[in-house]
Amino acid sequence: MKKVILAYSGGLDTSCIVRWLVDRGYEVICFVADLGQGLGKGEDLKKIEERAKAAGASKVYIKDLQDEFIDDFIVPALKAGAIYEGKYLLATALGRPLIAKHLVDIAHKEKAQAVAHGCTGKGNDQVRFEVTVNILDPKLEILAPVREWEFKSREEEIEYALSNNIPIDVTKKKPYSIDRNIWGISIEAGVLEDLEQEPPEDAYLITKSQNHASGYPKYLEITFEKGVPKKIDGKAYSLKDLIIYLNEVGGCYGVGRADLVENRLVGIKSREIYEAPAGTILYTAHKELESLVFDRELAHFKEIITLKYSELVYYGLWYSSLKTALDGFVNVTQKQVSGKIRLKLFKGTCVAVSRKSENSLYKKELSTYGKEDKFDQKLAEGFIRLWGMPYRK
Ligand code: ARG
Repeated sequence: MKKVILAYSGGLDTSCIVRWLVDRGYEVICFVADLGQGLGKGEDLKKIEERAKAAGASKVYIKDLQDEFIDDFIVPALKAGAIYEGKYLLATALGRPLIAKHLVDIAHKEKAQAVAHGCTGKGNDQVRFEVTVNILDPKLEILAPVREWEFKSREEEIEYALSNNIPIDVTKKKPYSIDRNIWGISIEAGVLEDLEQEPPEDAYLITKSQNHASGYPKYLEITFEKGVPKKIDGKAYSLKDLIIYLNEVGGCYGVGRADLVENRLVGIKSREIYEAPAGTILYTAHKELESLVFDRELAHFKEIITLKYSELVYYGLWYSSLKTALDGFVNVTQKQVSGKIRLKLFKGTCVAVSRKSENSLYKKELSTYGKEDKFDQKLAEGFIRLWGMPYRK
């Protein structure tokens, strides 16, 4: 019998996939990756395991990957400043290669011939899973039942689940398609597909609207060491706790929402909204600190790297040699990114209000218009003559 490892979420699609594959002669082993999507503990995990088994899985792996996700994916993305099309902090895109890596690991351990996922044929996630699996083990077969099965609607899937005694939560039609992890939430479908409509408030899960956010500002000071956030208001946090805390605070002040019509890899334009309060706060502070410690050429060149890096993450090329090479560049730049940035959160905005770093390249005696001025203005004349020479000719 062929063994397949399925990336299992506990939802309707992947539960139906388990049975669908069993019906086609596979032994199905489920893998649940905890990336901080709020699986809860004990009870919930037990429920997911039972559901997978009831659907026909022979075994269920549940792994808490949050620390690995943070250390090996989120932190490199933060250092690189990765952001897709100026708005999307890539929470979903960053999670896929990690899940795929563990799928491959489990496939090896279980001597399985195939892996499977529940992505549709219209999105980016199928590409990210499959390209990653291809890179890590080109011999593994990949199954994507949603691309080929007979079900045309959620109702048909529910019927299939019920008639096969798969315990699902049969709720009313879900208004949105949501992917969530500790770095953020991606929300699509339903009324969001109408570009002329403002996203309804109920589409957002962890951020308050500007209207409902506090009327008073909140100040926060983030300390970075070599590009990595270490403290909030002088108090040390683990990265996980720091992100959880900033998601909460940022959410309360309405920080971290994005509404984007994006270019998918498969050529489709789609409208999606995102919530990433912690990411938005950390990106703002990190970028501000870089502005202080990078010289002009480095600052400008890193923007080019950031653009390429973001595309690679979005395109599912996390394990490409170019991404590895860019990490090398980014890590060199981060050696000087230490210091403190104080931010003001207020009604959906997040801006830096104060900066401090031992590596600061800001020299007040050069920039001041006051009497402490040490800049020799006479030198400017010669500089401009030479700089402008080619254009005077
Ligand atoms: N468009 C985002 C990306 O490609 C999110 C995809 C998953 N979104 C969702 N709502 N299920 O990374």
